[in-house]
Amino acid sequence: MAYAQIVGWGYAVPARVLTNFDLEKMVDTSDEWIRTRTGISERRIAGPKESTSTLATRAAQNALQVADLSPGRVDLVIVATSTPDYPVPSVASLVQDSIGASRAGAFDVNAACSGFIYALAVASGLISSGLYETILIIGADTLSRIVDWTDRSTCVLFGDGAGALLLRRSESPTGLRSCVLGSDGSGVSSLLIPAGGSRNPLTPEHLQNRQNTIKMKGSEVYRFAISTIVQATRQALDAAGMRVDDIDLFIPHQANIRIIQAAARALDIPDEKVFSNVHRYGNTSAASIPIALCEAIESGRVRVGANLALVGFGAGLSWGAAIVQWGVDTTPVPIAWWKSVLRNLHSREAMVRSFALRTQRRLDALRRLNGIHGV
Ligand code: COA
Repeated sequence: MAYAQIVGWGYAVPARVLTNFDLEKMVDTSDEWIRTRTGISERRIAGPKESTSTLATRAAQNALQVADLSPGRVDLVIVATSTPDYPVPSVASLVQDSIGASRAGAFDVNAACSGFIYALAVASGLISSGLYETILIIGADTLSRIVDWTDRSTCVLFGDGAGALLLRRSESPTGLRSCVLGSDGSGVSSLLIPAGGSRNPLTPEHLQNRQNTIKMKGSEVYRFAISTIVQATRQALDAAGMRVDDIDLFIPHQANIRIIQAAARALDIPDEKVFSNVHRYGNTSAASIPIALCEAIESGRVRVGANLALVGFGAGLSWGAAIVQWGVDTTPVPIAWWKSVLRNLHSREAMVRSFALRTQRRLDALRRLNGIHGV
């Protein structure tokens, strides 16, 4: 039997910090309201040169570095996102190119804030089935680009970021132990972007009414979130043959500290087993679980043999819960100087390769245009 072991992890967030006090100057809100209702103090906002794919690329490179693996060994890149750089192509294709994963296939998964659990389930299945050996999964979103910055009920909640895991085939029985994926599409209107897709292509009126931004029924989503986290976690534990006591660390989607605490209380999970970083990043959608997992690793809370419960929920409505058994040492290893040089070379090589391929395409197009085939 083959298992999908997590061997690399990494995350990336923009440098720009937007605090609650900054938001006080933009909409009718207060630091006190935001902190008491959500637990959020600040969030990161992508700069003009950043996008979902640039954050995803940095997270992916960090995960490859931890795993000490060259991008040429990656078989498949899966990006969970609902804020792609373009409607087409996928963010995964852009990441595949920018990291130089020249042998890899690439596709995106859109299950909103639950997306990372879906990507984890798909990648683990493809590895356990023997189809693939090494898969890079990334949760990446730049919700700041689709938020209505005049709507105080949503703009205070979200932030940007990316988190990545590298999965490799292993004989060791670790990685995904069980998984529950769910959807209730009747809840579409609870959280959606009404215009800009095939049902309502963008018009000047839509733009004027900001129908191309997130519309959310906050209290509906709030109630859905708590009951769903509780139910999905219990189902995933049952499927793994485990009990709540077996969870060493609970890492739910980081949307709101009140949701996290209420769900943990209902599940009877003590505070010391709950991880949260929502105060520093807000809701980074598909990136929130992998960023939280990386920070839990950094703070020494993930050890070999630990059972992690990861739970996501979001637009769809959709949800996903996964029980993961951790299998590798997380002690940071100093990187030898020559490895840093090699890594730098890999990343430059990817840029040169991409540039050469793009130039080749332009030249081919020019030749066809001029009818000078074969020159
Ligand atoms: N600052 C100040 N007041 C605000 C505000 C803000 N940023 N946003 C909303 N309010 C106001 C509302 O207008 C409302 O005023 P009213 O009573 O005069 O009408 C009041 O605060 C209470 O609003 P309410 O929606 O009842 O607050 P709440 O306690 O439910 O908290 C959310 C609102 C959005 C924080 C909460 O519902 C939530 O977290 N929902 C889940 C959202 C989520 O996680 N979405 C992503 C899922 S992936």
